[in-house]
Amino acid sequence: MSSASAPGKIILFGEHAVVYGHPALAVPVTQVQATATVAPSSRRGVWVEAPNIGLSSELSDLAPDDPLGAVIRSVFSTLGVDRPPACTIYIQSTIPVAAGLGSGAAVTVAVLRALSSFLGQPLPENQVNLLTFEIEKLHHGNPSGIDNTVVTFARPVYFVKGRPIETFRVAVPFTLIIGDTGLSSSTKGVVEDVRKAWKASPEKFEKIFASVDRIVQQARRTIETGKGSALGPLMNKNHALLQQMTVSSPELDRLVSAARSAGAEGAKLSGGGRGGNMIALVQPEMTEKVSQALYQAGAKRVLITTVS
Ligand code: PMV
Repeated sequence: MSSASAPGKIILFGEHAVVYGHPALAVPVTQVQATATVAPSSRRGVWVEAPNIGLSSELSDLAPDDPLGAVIRSVFSTLGVDRPPACTIYIQSTIPVAAGLGSGAAVTVAVLRALSSFLGQPLPENQVNLLTFEIEKLHHGNPSGIDNTVVTFARPVYFVKGRPIETFRVAVPFTLIIGDTGLSSSTKGVVEDVRKAWKASPEKFEKIFASVDRIVQQARRTIETGKGSALGPLMNKNHALLQQMTVSSPELDRLVSAARSAGAEGAKLSGGGRGGNMIALVQPEMTEKVSQALYQAGAKRVLITTVS
């Protein structure tokens, strides 16, 4: 039997601009995890059991474009396994789905690791990252690659599309509250909408992306030097630019305002937008007050995480 896990992730700065080659910062969220366990089975075939999403199916019965089926087949083809042994792949996840927490990437990473280990040929991390990126394309169309990178390496990452992975140091740990609007949103659809808007007004969008780029550089310096107090205002600025990209929503704006009014140092939406999550930077003693304010403003779930 083989088991493997992968954490969730959250984007701190730079979502959407990252699709156009600008940098973004993202960190793992270890409070939530996806886990895959592969065990030999007396049933014939390769079975997938994912109770979270009500899935119980033999591999060949999954739709040809099913991302989980694609993950499993990619392991067999990469490892040259023509006749897979009878086994059951159990998948469990505490990562909210379609909420910008990297649930798809984490499930993929966990399955790639557990299944390749079960077959006696554990995949190296770089290959796990590359294969997960291929699967992310099925989920997201044209992903930047940030989710698979952070989830695979479980480290804070300064990410630029197509460049080697750069992790960064967190000089002084800081506390984030992640507030979930409860609205699921299709990252793929939002990314496509931004592309249409960028095509319609390229100059406007290039300016917005350049401003986001500067914010990401400043935020990285701030986190690496430990002068955390400047991060909040940078989050607020990044949120305003995301609003200009039209990827916020009334629900996200309400949570962002509620967090700021309750004493957060800064807040912004995180990830694809139009639903999913926002993040707020808080002093540890303010977590209770800001969490309550978020629930009162309509948050369906609140997670508290320390970035270190
Ligand atoms: O919604 P998430 O957390 O999967 O993040 C999407 C981030 C985007 O920059 C909008 C898209 C991407 O592929 O980087």
